[in-house]
Amino acid sequence: MALSVKVTTSAEHAPPDLVAVGVPVVATGNGPALPEGLPPSVSGFALPETLDSRWCERHRFKAKVGEVLDLYGLEGPGRLLVGLGDEESVDEESWRRAAASFVRASGAGGRALLVVPQGCMGLAPADLGDAVTVGAILGSYRFDSYRSKRDSNPSTVERLDVCAGPLDEVEGGVRRGTIFAAATSFARDLVNTPPSDLTPLSLAAKINEVLSHKEGVTLQVWDEERIADERLGGLVGVSRGSNESPRLLRADYTPKNPVEVNGRIPYIALVGKGITFDSGGLSLKTAEGMTTMKTDMSGAAVVMAVLSACSDLDVRVRVSAIAPVTENMPGGSAIKPGDVVTIRNGKTIEVLNTDAEGRLVLADALVLATELLPDAIVDVATLTGAAVVALGTEIAPIFGTDAALVDQICMASKRSGEKLWRMPLPDEYQDHIDSEVADMKNVGKPGQAGSIAAALLLREFTGDGAWAHLDIAGPARSSELVGYNPKGGTGFGVRTLLELLSRYGEPSDDG
Ligand code: BES
Ligand code: MN
Ligand code: ZN
Repeated sequence: MALSVKVTTSAEHAPPDLVAVGVPVVATGNGPALPEGLPPSVSGFALPETLDSRWCERHRFKAKVGEVLDLYGLEGPGRLLVGLGDEESVDEESWRRAAASFVRASGAGGRALLVVPQGCMGLAPADLGDAVTVGAILGSYRFDSYRSKRDSNPSTVERLDVCAGPLDEVEGGVRRGTIFAAATSFARDLVNTPPSDLTPLSLAAKINEVLSHKEGVTLQVWDEERIADERLGGLVGVSRGSNESPRLLRADYTPKNPVEVNGRIPYIALVGKGITFDSGGLSLKTAEGMTTMKTDMSGAAVVMAVLSACSDLDVRVRVSAIAPVTENMPGGSAIKPGDVVTIRNGKTIEVLNTDAEGRLVLADALVLATELLPDAIVDVATLTGAAVVALGTEIAPIFGTDAALVDQICMASKRSGEKLWRMPLPDEYQDHIDSEVADMKNVGKPGQAGSIAAALLLREFTGDGAWAHLDIAGPARSSELVGYNPKGGTGFGVRTLLELLSRYGEPSDDG
């Protein structure tokens, strides 16, 4: 069960299962300090009035974001100082990270109480409630269904009470954050499932199980035969080396309360890469390179998780999510370097490296997306190792053909805390993917602009409409606990896309 978050007032009685009280602390020029607006007491427990900065120093507590210090020796529940970082730069992300650290440090089981200063330190109360909720739920996420000794002890507290107001505003944020976190956890569960248990077939079944309970959402699943009939040559080609049959998933969401922009209900198509295991195919990866390749269906998990949350969030635009799903394996019938595939729109691609498979399956899916005539297409894919080289594991490159769309996604990413960095699609590099025999080849120049070459190839299949591409190869997986991302699948992208969709058509508040 996921941790649950509730909003309380400072006067409420302490519940009997209360194990910890969290007191936020900011870093100032004079060392750690309490923020203004803390109540003198909560639930009958007095809060400190000031902090002795030398005492903090002795305990090496600097109030960095997510730093926690236990004030031992007090009666009753533990009293924990929770760092929010530099007082000038406290934002939603600070609260997400602080809440994650706090629920992990509070103990196993029971309930923790986090105190928020009156006025929410200048943040909108709803955004604060949202942030604390997302941080707490995602920070306490654990994937342990494959452990023999299924730890019945929770790793964190099971409930978080947030002492903040105005009550109804903060509660609205908590509701929103709970939905965002649940969708992200769904994506994480799919990503973390071992690849032999998450084949194209079982991925389709798991997604169907969740989407079938959602209002306004329908799911279509194409099998191998249909995929061939529909001339998805990229997907067929990649799937040839595997004993598992490929699938193409398409989910559609129709809003109950649609918004109209210029007399039309906005319509967004999402596309997600769904390689359930990427061995590299005949261009086989190294043993080490393969260890994390169950993660290669993260894009598909992300777009389907987004669809799973649309009705709960009352998203007011139409949304479709398309995911081409297959293994990339080196079987006897596998596609060979030098082979040429024909994508659904008739364009041909010479396959010189079978490990550059993502762009082949995405090409077909992007063509399908253009046929739906959406206002915008956004694809999400663990596409290139070069993206990890360029930006590491906490930032994803974003590419696009429409500046306004890319702007909107970047704005959504500022809200979600999932960091994006804009990359160019230079026409000068178009010749990197020129092929000797086909319309293009699936690799660029060795050692040069690998993420851009992949994006340039995808662009060939997006028609004339607005398109953006998120290469999440880095942040899709965390190799260690960072903030509210435990080791493993992160669900990166879910919250940014939900921010985009849930505010689509609203006038933007920050320019
Ligand atoms: N799935 C990989 C990209 C990847 C690498 C994701 C590391 C996450 C972590 C993709 O299919 C791939 O293998 N790309 C190749 C392309 C190359 C052969 C042109 C790569 O990046 O090495
Ligand atoms: Mn690959
Ligand atoms: Zn791949």
